[in-house]
Amino acid sequence: MCGIVGIVGKLNACKSALNILKNLEYRGYDSAGLAYLQKNHLNTIKALGKLNKLKSKFEVLEEDIKDISIAIGHTRWATHGKVLLENTHPILSENIAVVHNGIIENHDEIRLELKEKNVVFETSTDTEVIPHLLSISMKNTNNFFNACVSVVEKIEGAYAFAAIHSLKEEIFVARKTSPLVIGLGDGYNIVGSDAQSISHMVNEVIYLNDGDYAILNKTNFQIYDLNNNEVKREKINIKSNLNFLNKDGYKHFMEKEIHEQPNVLINTIGSLVREENDLNIFPEKMNIQKNFGITICAAGTSHYAAMVGKYWIEKFSSIPVNVELSSEYRYRRPATAMYSCMIVISQSGESIDTLMAMREAKRLNLTTTAITNVENSSIDREADYSIFTHVGPEVGVASTKSFTSQLIVLLSIAMKIGIYNKKITSEKYQSFIQNLKLVPNFLSKILSLNEEFINLAQSIKNSQNILYLGRGILYPLALEGALKLKELSYIHSEGFAAGEMKHGPIALIEEGLPIIMFLTSDGIEEKSISNLQEALARGGEVFLISDQKNINKISFIENKVLIPSFHDTWNDVFSPIFMSIPAQLIAYHVARERGTDVDQPRNLAKSVTVE
Ligand code: F6R
Repeated sequence: MCGIVGIVGKLNACKSALNILKNLEYRGYDSAGLAYLQKNHLNTIKALGKLNKLKSKFEVLEEDIKDISIAIGHTRWATHGKVLLENTHPILSENIAVVHNGIIENHDEIRLELKEKNVVFETSTDTEVIPHLLSISMKNTNNFFNACVSVVEKIEGAYAFAAIHSLKEEIFVARKTSPLVIGLGDGYNIVGSDAQSISHMVNEVIYLNDGDYAILNKTNFQIYDLNNNEVKREKINIKSNLNFLNKDGYKHFMEKEIHEQPNVLINTIGSLVREENDLNIFPEKMNIQKNFGITICAAGTSHYAAMVGKYWIEKFSSIPVNVELSSEYRYRRPATAMYSCMIVISQSGESIDTLMAMREAKRLNLTTTAITNVENSSIDREADYSIFTHVGPEVGVASTKSFTSQLIVLLSIAMKIGIYNKKITSEKYQSFIQNLKLVPNFLSKILSLNEEFINLAQSIKNSQNILYLGRGILYPLALEGALKLKELSYIHSEGFAAGEMKHGPIALIEEGLPIIMFLTSDGIEEKSISNLQEALARGGEVFLISDQKNINKISFIENKVLIPSFHDTWNDVFSPIFMSIPAQLIAYHVARERGTDVDQPRNLAKSVTVE
């Protein structure tokens, strides 16, 4: 989603703003721009496409604008209005420039009002109402800050914006739901959409609370809450560390993030397992109640993690679990009498659908627990209790290490509730913890089969349609495999529960249609194998990913990759974590073969902050 930056008080502000936008690239965008103040005039530089286009335009002007010490910048992920230069932010009106992330829900209404006052609109964005409102208000009040506050009072929606004007070096910012962070530099101040993006320039940051607005100049800043009271917000020390932007010799961030899973999952597990061999998870804080269920809300890949979590939690703790898409939950009227709590899962901690579902749960008096990778993200800050995945920044748009870390947290929650509710023995609990510690090393063994997945990718790279199948706990993996493939390679792919094929989807099978199936030895493997026979009989080209334990049962399948089997009792339990690696590698290699933009697939954004 869109990224915002603002700098006041630092020479060569445009260059610094460009560098920060580079760090926000991961959020996804399709055009970018800067606005700066030079001799009491606001100028802009804008470009469609990637930041190098904006950089080239900036470099032509660089000598002339080195002395500039105030700038705002933006990466735009189009929502209202096509990807055109005129719609690219910053958007100007007379002596005001604005960058904006999110959506102004009442923009139509405001547009009509402004048109009646003869305001001429030059873009199709919802954003444009902000600079026009500001210009009009400035004429009435002659005070930039008061004008901005009046705009904040008028606009509705989920947004963050930054505005500058041509008379004075100051930046106004406001946030409602979308994230915004202030960075405190030595003689300058910065705003950015996340702390990481500005961490190379500042040691201290302040996260604005929902509804806050602020005014910054080079040495001072004032923050106000949604009741217009001036407030002090905590200053947080951050390390100056942008190592996450290094690909470590891999071609893509996604490739790096797939291969670093054995290392980073050690952090996830380390944070979960306490020295005395207990799990650092607190069912009391989650408000787990014996006779009440749990709702889990999430979006996309995190939603598939939730689906796996349901299998585990119900199996090991007997607590009923209801899994929902965040975007659906927030707009229906959920009956919550049978539930005591909600778990939300969000890598970024910023997905607006999930944030809103969590707010709805709070409104309905459910206790909320967040599973997230980003400390101080909006979801972390608003949840009653957070469990962090600790896998470091994920730059590739497609979720990889986040998914496996979410699975590890969910399985650990299942086991902890299991022991808490006396549904599993302490031997089982201890055995789980011991085996959990072996997972990272085991994933290295699966990753060493990389070449086999490259071969598989080469066989399917030219297909137009691909099906993924899984049964039981591997059904959500079929959905995840298909999502990963479609988002990265743009090949149409669908995941199905293998047992459902005969109820309709089997009609899709024709000669040569690739069908990828994930199989573990979970007691229902014979059933899955029958489903494969049915696909083969109709001409489907089956590619089977199975653990070694099934080797004798699947000799008739020609195309297969056998992954090692884990310790007996835990093999099928951990299988969704293990099968994530093939799902990721297949999608990655197909996309690479097809030459698509692996780290920033078209139309996608890392942090989805619009509905
Ligand atoms: C797919 C992917 C998305 C995200 C989804 C939720 O590879 O990454 O489907 O999983 O947008 O994002 P978070 O987890 O940040 O809420």
